[in-house]
Amino acid sequence: MLRGKNILLGITGGIAAYKICDLIRQYKKNGANVKVIATPNALNFMTKLTLQNLSQNEVYVQEFDVREWKPEHISLADEADVFVIAPATANTIGKIAQGIADNLLTSVACAFSKKMIVAPAMNCNMWNNHAVQENLKVLQARGVEILQPESGFLACGYVGKGRLCSIDKIFRATVECLSFQTILKGKKVVITSGGTIEDIDPVRYISNYSSGKMGFALANAAKSMGAEVVLITTKDHDAPYKIIKVKSALDMQNAVEVEFADSNIIIMAAAVADYRVREYALQKMKKSEQDSITLELVKNPDILKGLCEKKKSQIIVGFCAESENLIQNAQEKIAKKGCDYLVANDISRKDIGFGADENEVVILDKNGGSYRIEKSPKSVIARKILEYING
Ligand code: CTP
Repeated sequence: MLRGKNILLGITGGIAAYKICDLIRQYKKNGANVKVIATPNALNFMTKLTLQNLSQNEVYVQEFDVREWKPEHISLADEADVFVIAPATANTIGKIAQGIADNLLTSVACAFSKKMIVAPAMNCNMWNNHAVQENLKVLQARGVEILQPESGFLACGYVGKGRLCSIDKIFRATVECLSFQTILKGKKVVITSGGTIEDIDPVRYISNYSSGKMGFALANAAKSMGAEVVLITTKDHDAPYKIIKVKSALDMQNAVEVEFADSNIIIMAAAVADYRVREYALQKMKKSEQDSITLELVKNPDILKGLCEKKKSQIIVGFCAESENLIQNAQEKIAKKGCDYLVANDISRKDIGFGADENEVVILDKNGGSYRIEKSPKSVIARKILEYING
């Protein structure tokens, strides 16, 4: 099941560390190449020799144990397909969430750009601590998979939530994650994001509140599923795929049309302004003596509709932000635009959608079907959207 896969396993200093021997055995039995990074504290609970024998590899603990020209934290991060941290203490979770890299394990986490799975284990009061929960949210929003601890008798004598989840669960999550990484292999996915900016004069513009976060989450998810990703966005974003920065709806249309021909999936998550000013003022417009002025607006092209008209084999996905009658408006829109799927979200709710880190959406398909994704971080919504439309 795991033949040819490189698993990097991080072990931190919690009593549950002793259970990880079984996880290494399962990975090995299934053909994976396993490398272990243990924090110095983890070695209070198990020996380096045990880990070395089970993983049949060297065990990495300290930074600057120079073995090759490339810094250890970079080569370990580069060669792994997945980074599993189990058990993860509150301390390590906090450091990774805040980008602190003060030992080999946290440095690798900082340099790691693929999928990370974190299985926390700690005392129940630590688990309930507000800071720990906030740190977990930060990680989750960045696409890290958190395997919830279980409730029960804890090694510290308490009864509550904090016990490491089962080894079987960590194993299954790893297998799932590794097969997930190839779902979109060989496919080109083009995603638009952010609100377009329609200039009025050198200092003023028309735009909207779109943050671009949903588009970023989709692009990140598509990349982690093995796709070639092109993100066309009005917002600044830094990521390991092609990013084309645009401003207005017309710029976005030009960029989309160049990328569309050889794409397999195109997702219009951008909030495109429906209108732009008829005439851009070259100089700053001065205040008039009159109490009101009129700006004449002209319609922007409907980029999504235009793509649907010339589509070949592409899967085309639109987004629709509605403040009322969500499903009815979405049904009318999918028919009008002619796209394969329309992801509808309700922008009247402050806890989801525009600017928020979470979303709740309904995906409509052109045959009348629908699929609701309950409120979750945008990273989770993005993954589910891609899985659904890819069939
Ligand atoms: N869209 C587009 N070009 C436009 C307007 C919208 O490509 N000029 C795309 C958006 O990227 C989105 C979908 O169409 O994927 C729906 O956008 P939305 O703003 O909800 O719909 P509109 O067609 O603009 O309709 P309305 O504003 O009346 O709701």
